[in-house]
Amino acid sequence: MNLDALKRQAAARALDFVEGGMKLGLGTGSTAKHFVELLGERVRGGLEVVGVPTSEATRADALRCGIRLTTLDEVDRLDLTVDGADEVDPALNLIKGGGGALLREKIVAAASDRMIVIADDSKWVETLGRFPLPIEVVPFGLGATRRAIEKALADCGASGQLVLRKGKDGHAFVTDSGHWIVDAHLGRIPDAPRLAQSLSCIAGVAEHGLFIGIASLAMLAGPQGIRVVEPR
Ligand code: A5P
Repeated sequence: MNLDALKRQAAARALDFVEGGMKLGLGTGSTAKHFVELLGERVRGGLEVVGVPTSEATRADALRCGIRLTTLDEVDRLDLTVDGADEVDPALNLIKGGGGALLREKIVAAASDRMIVIADDSKWVETLGRFPLPIEVVPFGLGATRRAIEKALADCGASGQLVLRKGKDGHAFVTDSGHWIVDAHLGRIPDAPRLAQSLSCIAGVAEHGLFIGIASLAMLAGPQGIRVVEPR
């Protein structure tokens, strides 16, 4: 079975947790896109929900699928966010941001009562860090921010190359919020909660892709079926 079919299965399983009247956070990426499409089918069949998209790409997908949208200014809390991930560990700590939407993804997930992660099981790891950690930075003062990130990494026992993400045009990739992304190639993050806290204290860091203690459930699709995992 190919990876895309597994992603769609994970997305379909998450749909079981959606009920009429819910306010939903809509994730970004190829797996979340399946969820949006499947949710759209249910909406066209009469399900009433309202969604907050985590990126301009997801906003466009959701509108195309007929899903009614709102904003976090118009609603108080969201009932549920469904989103993909680049890595998931047994505590359901995540690396996110491979698609560059980490800032809005974290704002939306943090405003939700529950977050369900949907992924194919290749995203499952014992220790986070094999996937380069996306760190969203303010372009101003990048040199100083990089040095502060290097220090935070060293203090947390992690090290590796910091690479400014480039877009298809060869220039710095610009996020939906007008920031840049530095990808930290660490291999292994020995203490992800500690690193998350340290990175959050750096002035030029808008957000980082470590989602600690945010996900409440993961749907991991593999050739043997779907594993529903709670945080260990
Ligand atoms: C988007 O910024 C990311 O956080 C995605 O959720 C993550 O990269 C997973 O994407 P895929 O579902 O495409 O693997």
